[in-house]
Amino acid sequence: MYTSKISGLGYYVPENVVTNDDLSKIMDTNDAWIQERTGIKERRHIKKGDGNSTSIMGVKAAKIAIERANISKDDIELIIFATLSPDMYFPGGGVRVQEMMDMKTIPALDVRNQCSGFVYAISVADQFIKTGMYKNILVIGSENHSGGLDMSTRGRGVSVIFGDGAGAAVLTRSDKEGKGILSTHLHSEGAHAKELSLEGPSTEHWVPEIIAENPQENIPYYPYMNGQFVFKNAVVRFSEVINEGLQANNLSASDINMLIPHQANLRISQFVQKQFKLSNDQVYNNIQKYGNTTAASIPIALTEAWEKGKIKEGDLIVLAAFGSGFTWGSAIIRW
Ligand code: UT7
Repeated sequence: MYTSKISGLGYYVPENVVTNDDLSKIMDTNDAWIQERTGIKERRHIKKGDGNSTSIMGVKAAKIAIERANISKDDIELIIFATLSPDMYFPGGGVRVQEMMDMKTIPALDVRNQCSGFVYAISVADQFIKTGMYKNILVIGSENHSGGLDMSTRGRGVSVIFGDGAGAAVLTRSDKEGKGILSTHLHSEGAHAKELSLEGPSTEHWVPEIIAENPQENIPYYPYMNGQFVFKNAVVRFSEVINEGLQANNLSASDINMLIPHQANLRISQFVQKQFKLSNDQVYNNIQKYGNTTAASIPIALTEAWEKGKIKEGDLIVLAAFGSGFTWGSAIIRW
């Protein structure tokens, strides 16, 4: 059977830096609260007119990843695009990327698994490569949160956390056993779907209905998060799914060279780090600079870690994510 390896990585974030102090000018929040509760110092927001969108940022990240994989866009046989913030309600981001990059009539698939989107997407890509169906797959995670957040004090529990950006990876067929993606582990628990959600506009909350109801509280066209409930579930599920991946490969936490957790909250990453007794060198965090970029957070962090030389041939890399759905997952990779 074939295995898949990550042969190229890239990321893109908008230039516009939004600091905690910037936010405190438009809502009742402050740098101390945000840093203490989340670790975030600043994030990037698309600026109207800067030419970015979810798909455009995805394209920028993808071009870098394809170049680093040393292949051409015409070698890509499948696009998998993970996002919760597509340019349009339909069609998805995958076909937009295909059009913008002038790619052949290859299939394009969108993944709707929020913060776990990238882990789900590489798991899907891995299966297609393992079966021999495709050799090179482009996986993108991209998010444009900023335009859809409630930037008033009412929304501060959510809006200070999220940022915009994109990351991409090329997965390539390999025949080296014991290297590349060793396994992926996916879960979901729909019972908690509403605990972190954006209800409308959707088929449950069409625009005329929203306007007619004109709700003052709990406005369904802004994201809602039951922060403490999500936090409590996140720390448990992160640990479970990392353990599941390690056990499936007869590995232990001490074998991990680099854990790249989805950048949900620095406190969550630090909690997981402590549970697995990992040193600071064994966990990569960049939420301080970018906030939580949902499906983009792991590929951005993975690319940055790789660019800084923190990921070397033969290293054991663990990706882990948890988020809306609830959905969660891990990927165990021998680089
Ligand atoms: O990526 C997907 C997965 N997402 C997550 O994993 C997020 C998980 N949850 C969290 O990260 C945390 O729950 C938050 C960072 C969202 C919130 O932190 P918290 O420590 O759980 O705070 P809280 O929601 O319990 O709020 C504490 C207080 C409240 O005030 P009172 O009721 O104690 O007077 C909030 O109104 O902090 C207030 N607050 C704020 N104050 C200043 C909430 N947001 C803010 C803010 N600035 N931005």
